[in-house]
Amino acid sequence: MVLDSPERLKPYLDIATEAALAGGGVLDFWRGNLTQIDEKGRSGDLVTNADRAAEAAVLEVLQRHCPQVGILAEESGAIGDHSGPFLWAIDPLDGTTNFAHQYPFSAVSIALLVEGVPAIGVIYDPFHQELFRAAKGLGATRNRQPIQVSKADRLAQSLLVTGFAYDRRETPDNNYAEFCYLTHLTQGVRRGGSAALDLAYVACGRLDGYWERGLSIWDIAAGVVLVEEAGGQVTAYDGSAVDVRSGRLVATNGPLQEPLCRALAQVPAIALWSQDPSTWPSV
Ligand code: IPD
Ligand code: CA
Ligand code: CA
Repeated sequence: MVLDSPERLKPYLDIATEAALAGGGVLDFWRGNLTQIDEKGRSGDLVTNADRAAEAAVLEVLQRHCPQVGILAEESGAIGDHSGPFLWAIDPLDGTTNFAHQYPFSAVSIALLVEGVPAIGVIYDPFHQELFRAAKGLGATRNRQPIQVSKADRLAQSLLVTGFAYDRRETPDNNYAEFCYLTHLTQGVRRGGSAALDLAYVACGRLDGYWERGLSIWDIAAGVVLVEEAGGQVTAYDGSAVDVRSGRLVATNGPLQEPLCRALAQVPAIALWSQDPSTWPSV
């Protein structure tokens, strides 16, 4: 076992924090001043000079402190030696579309995976100066104060969040029908535009649950640690153990995990919602 005690994670948590704040400083510099907004291939999948500059700032910190640890970074790809037990996963700007439109909901997201399992998560939102941190066995905090998930235990009482991947125009597995059904079953479903912050908001109880598909490991690895350490639960859609490499997950406060997984397993076809409301499923 590489980690015999959670205490061993503390130095890495501080390094990830330093890197997230460095990236956040760069995002602050570029907000409202972007000079370059490009599409990465898929329609709507943007990359800006803020993404690249924030990633450079994050990499500088991580490589200075931990030159031996491999890195998977959204804009640079695989860096260094990936054969060891530790791996950094970085999204320098999660919520690029929001950032490009000056909609203030974006963050730097940094995770440390130990033997493939997320063990540290740091998410920094420079717009609201909120720093979310968690490490396995050490709890979760927002601006250094402990956080906890919400207590809602019925979908009918809940506020959820989800998202739609960049391949949504190319696949019927695009989350549109799920969005309709969960909107019907709950007090509302938000589309935040930053998977990392969506998970951080579940962790601190502002939202009761989150589901999404088509994600990358750097979108979710940090947020998974936050939700779990704040007392919540994260699984695959069918309730089994989550694999962050699958790009698909359900995260809730715990009591809503089974109801949300069950709802996702029985989503009616999207056409239903244009029919007579008396034919809609009752709640
Ligand atoms: C995106 C955001 C969004 C999610 C997309 C992600 P990006 O990341 O997390 O909320 O719905 O699937 O790709 O492109 O802004 O880093
Ligand atoms: Ca992302
Ligand atoms: Ca990104």
